[in-house]
Amino acid sequence: MAQNEFLLEMKGISKEFPGVKALDGVTLQVRPGTVHALMGENGAGKSTLMKCLYGIYAPDAGEIILDGVHANIHNSKDALNLGISMIHQELHPVPFRNVMENIWLGRFPTKGIGPLQLFVDHQKCIRTQRSYSEN
Ligand SMILES: Nc1ncnc2c1ncn2[C@@H]1O[C@H](COP(=O)(O)OP(=O)(O)OP(=O)(O)O)[C@@H](O)[C@H]1O
Ligand SMILES: [Mg+2]
Repeated sequence: MAQNEFLLEMKGISKEFPGVKALDGVTLQVRPGTVHALMGENGAGKSTLMKCLYGIYAPDAGEIILDGVHANIHNSKDALNLGISMIHQELHPVPFRNVMENIWLGRFPTKGIGPLQLFVDHQKCIRTQRSYSEN
């Protein structure tokens, strides 16, 4: 259970591409157990903000705080290890895989016998995902 008011805080995030400032000091605060829709016109910077959270882009400025702790996210593996998943915009998700599998991509819990943990534990995926949304 999160102890902080916000499970996620993105503070003062800026990101510039050649010729375009995609994000200019953006702040996003997410309380535990809440669902948010980030809305804006095409090119508003929604995907860029999420890519900064997911370690695809390094922000030029700003800070990401997870459950009160500064998060060092240098790549998507860092993000995944911190419990952050990204289902990418159209054309980018892995086709022929369902939403749950896309969420767990790269860090599937496994099951098996002893050291032979060779099978994806789908039930654990579902249980863990449920506990994230309930907490
Ligand atoms: N890799 C990139 N290189 C250069 N410019 C980029 C890059 N990615 C995004 N941009 C630019 O940054 C701005 C924000 O783009 P972004 O894709 O974040 O918007 P969006 O809100 O997700 O739009 P959409 O609703 O179309 O998905 C746009 O002007 C876009 O052209
Ligand atoms: Mg987008």
